[in-house]
Amino acid sequence: MSQCRICNQTTHQVIHFGKMPIANGFLRELDEKEFLFDMSVAFCPQCFMVQLEETVKPEMMFNDNYQFVSSTSNAMAIHFEGIAQEIAGKVADKQDPFIVELGCNDGIMLKHIAAKGIHHLGIEPSSNVAAMARKNKVEVTEKFFNAATAQEIVQEHGQADVLCGSNVFCHIEDINSVFEGASILLKDDGVLFFEDPYLLDIVQKSSFDQIYDEHVYYYSGLSVQALAQRHGLQLVDMVHQDVHGGSMRYYIQKGSDKNISQNVNDGIAAEKEWQLHQTEGYEAFKTKVDQICKDLKQTLKDIKQQKNRIVAYGATSKSTTLLNYAQIGPDLIEYICDTTPNKINKYTPGTHIPIKSYDAFLADDARNTLLLAWNHKKEIFAKEKSYREKGGKFITYFPEVVVE
Ligand code: TYD
Repeated sequence: MSQCRICNQTTHQVIHFGKMPIANGFLRELDEKEFLFDMSVAFCPQCFMVQLEETVKPEMMFNDNYQFVSSTSNAMAIHFEGIAQEIAGKVADKQDPFIVELGCNDGIMLKHIAAKGIHHLGIEPSSNVAAMARKNKVEVTEKFFNAATAQEIVQEHGQADVLCGSNVFCHIEDINSVFEGASILLKDDGVLFFEDPYLLDIVQKSSFDQIYDEHVYYYSGLSVQALAQRHGLQLVDMVHQDVHGGSMRYYIQKGSDKNISQNVNDGIAAEKEWQLHQTEGYEAFKTKVDQICKDLKQTLKDIKQQKNRIVAYGATSKSTTLLNYAQIGPDLIEYICDTTPNKINKYTPGTHIPIKSYDAFLADDARNTLLLAWNHKKEIFAKEKSYREKGGKFITYFPEVVVE
C-alpha cells in the first residue's frame, strides 16, 4: 500500500512486477553489477493518477550515460518537426515570443525553433544528449525543472508563451512542482502542452511494457484534469498522437475560465467506459497482461522447439519490462538488432541478450523476429518489406500474440 504522489490518498496496486533493472541500463560486460528495484504500479482512486510505487533516483537514469536519443526514427523526426510548426504558428503574432521545452533531448524539436530565430530554452539534465542539442544550435541548460528553476528562467529570460515537453512529464516524480513552475513561467495567455504514452492506449492494447523506471506517471484526461486544477490551471484540450504506441497531447492554460474543447469531454467519457476511474478497469488489465506474457513465451518456445532461430528488433527501453516480466532471455532470443550506436555490443538489462548492429540483422537469415520496437511497426514493416517477402516473420504481442 502506498500514497499518491499527487494528492496523498492511499493507492490501489495494479501490477507487481518484482525486482526489475533500470530500462536503459544496458550492460557493457556480462559480469557488471546491476541495480535492481522493486517495480509495481498503482492507481489513485481519488485523483485517478496511475503511478509507480517505488521510484529510482533521477541521477541513476538521466546521467551522462543516458542511452536514449530521440533522433533514431524518421517518423519521430517528422512528428517533432510538426510540433515545432504548431508552436511557430501559435506564436506567429507575438512580439519576441519565448519557448521553453523540458527534456529537449538532442534538440529534435527545438532545432527547428532555433532555425527560425525564435527565443527558446531547452532544459535537459542528461549532459551527453544536451551536448548533441547544442551541436544542433539549441540553447540548453542542464537542470531539472521545478518551481525554483522556473523563477530563475523568468529572471533571466522573462515569462514564456509556450512550455512544452514530449515524453518527459511522465519521468518527473515531483510533477506537482513542475505544474507550480508552469504557473510561474507562463504568461497569462501562455500554454503548457505535453505528450506522453496514453493510459487508455496502454489499457486497451495491454501494452504494459510502457511501465518502467523512467515512467513514474501514466497520464489520462482524468488525471491531468485533476492535476491541473490543483495548480490553478485548466485542461483545455487533448489530442491523440499516433506515436510511442499511442500518446496523448494535453493542452493546459492558466485560470478556470477558458473554453474546454469537446475532445476533453469525449476523451474522459471514453476513459470512464474503460473504467479508468475505478479499480475494476485495472484488474481486467492485469489479467490480460499475464495472459499475453504466457502466450508470447509459449509461441517463442514452440518456434525454438521446431529448431528455428529467433532474433529481435529494437532494444527499446520498454522491452526491458516485457523481457524481464515474461522471463524471455538468450535461451529464446539470440540477439537484438538496433540502429543506436551506443547500444551495440552491449547486453539487455536483467535478461542479458546481446545487442548487435542492424547490419548483423541484414546479413542474417533468421526468419523469426520478435518486434520489440512494436511502436514503429508501420515504419519497420515498410523498411523490412523484402525480409517479409522472403518468408521472414515478425512476432508482435499487443493486444495479442501474432506471427505475421
Ligand atoms: P523507442 O521507440 O524510443 O522506444 P523506447 O522509448 O521504449 O526506447 O526506441 C526505438 C528503438 O528501436 C531504438 O533503440 C532504435 C531502434 N530502432 C531500430 O533499431 N530500427 C528502426 O527502424 C527503428 C524505427 C527503431
